[in-house]
Amino acid sequence: MKTPPPAGFGVYIHVPFCARKCDYCAFATWDDKAGQIDAYMTALVAEVRRATDAGMPLAETVFVGGGTPSLVPGDALARVITAVRRSPDAEVTVECNPDNVTESLLRTYRDAGVNRISLGVQSMVPRVLAALGRQHNPDNVVAAVDAIRGVGIPTFNLDLIYGAHGETPHDWQTTLHRALALSPPHVSAYALTVEAGTPLAADDARHPDDDDQADKYPMADAAFEDAGLANYEISNWAVPGHESRHNRLYWTQADYRGFGCAAHSHAAGRRWWNVRTPERYVDLVNTGRSTQAAFEELTTQQIAAERLQLTIRCRQGAALADIAPDKHNEIDEMAAGGLLAVVDDRVVLTPRGRLLANAVTLRLT
Ligand SMILES: C[S@@+](CC[C@H](N)C(=O)[O-])C[C@H]1O[C@@H](n2cnc3c(N)ncnc32)[C@H](O)[C@@H]1O
Ligand code: SF4
Repeated sequence: MKTPPPAGFGVYIHVPFCARKCDYCAFATWDDKAGQIDAYMTALVAEVRRATDAGMPLAETVFVGGGTPSLVPGDALARVITAVRRSPDAEVTVECNPDNVTESLLRTYRDAGVNRISLGVQSMVPRVLAALGRQHNPDNVVAAVDAIRGVGIPTFNLDLIYGAHGETPHDWQTTLHRALALSPPHVSAYALTVEAGTPLAADDARHPDDDDQADKYPMADAAFEDAGLANYEISNWAVPGHESRHNRLYWTQADYRGFGCAAHSHAAGRRWWNVRTPERYVDLVNTGRSTQAAFEELTTQQIAAERLQLTIRCRQGAALADIAPDKHNEIDEMAAGGLLAVVDDRVVLTPRGRLLANAVTLRLT
């Protein structure tokens, strides 16, 4: 197994608006700022044009995330996407909520070059969706997938979450079964995480249980692998050829540029991020000032540590050369314990090791 080559240059566009804030979500999104959408989308186009004039490379991938990009008028989103100069075969993804996807919206996206949709499904069981504070019902997911196929967008992802309060193993199996009935080319399944400052964090009684999530991960892995979706990163499975190129760009420490409030960028070991709120962002763009809130320069050691953290989560694993020689006894111990294997000079997590990836990485750092 070889390390894939770096994935080129990518663009991330942040859309910070949601119909309703989910109580587990810590992303920079608001449900009471819809009045700012027009000004924000105009500012995004201006920031993209400014970066293009300053020599931004051609994008190999564009990812429009949020927030809920599908909440914004399709033509406004299309103007931002069109403003990004990209290579002819670029991957262009838009994150959508199943409850506001229509064929007409998807046609507008497709005509602007969008060739991948990522749908926030989370669960296919109404009671679990309610426990997560989600508004859509599973039928919307089926309709959204039909619409994606109907307009000819060639690939899509379904995001799932496991470990919500009250979700039984049977509920999770139902979600897996119903999601796979849609023959998705790509699935991401995330363990529900308690993020500081969220309403979920303040309610201990609804916190997920580690053992429950540890039981649900192998259920997902088995169901996806049986359906022909291969695991290629701890939380991601794809039919071969449908892996997310944008994600791979992050995992290979390639350069990317983020537009919009709270968006992060990276170029050659320098990382920076924009101001957090949309109003501050719009004001800075409109007055011709920098949107940057802060930056950090990564040391060689930090870059190496992050490379290990990122690559060990991926199917091809971490290069043995990236692990200090005095940690090689740890490799032997963890291999004997069934957490990892050494394959062609690379350290690859076993399915059980994937559950303990953070602990494994700590022992190797
Ligand atoms: C930033 S959200 C945007 C997608 C879209 N707004 C939605 O929620 O349908 C991207 C994905 O992150 C995941 N996510 C967000 N908060 C999470 C949390 N606290 N724990 C686990 N996954 C989370 C969800 O699966 C979600 O689909
Ligand atoms: S999970 Fe998605 S819909 Fe819910 S608040 Fe976060 S970004 Fe918005």
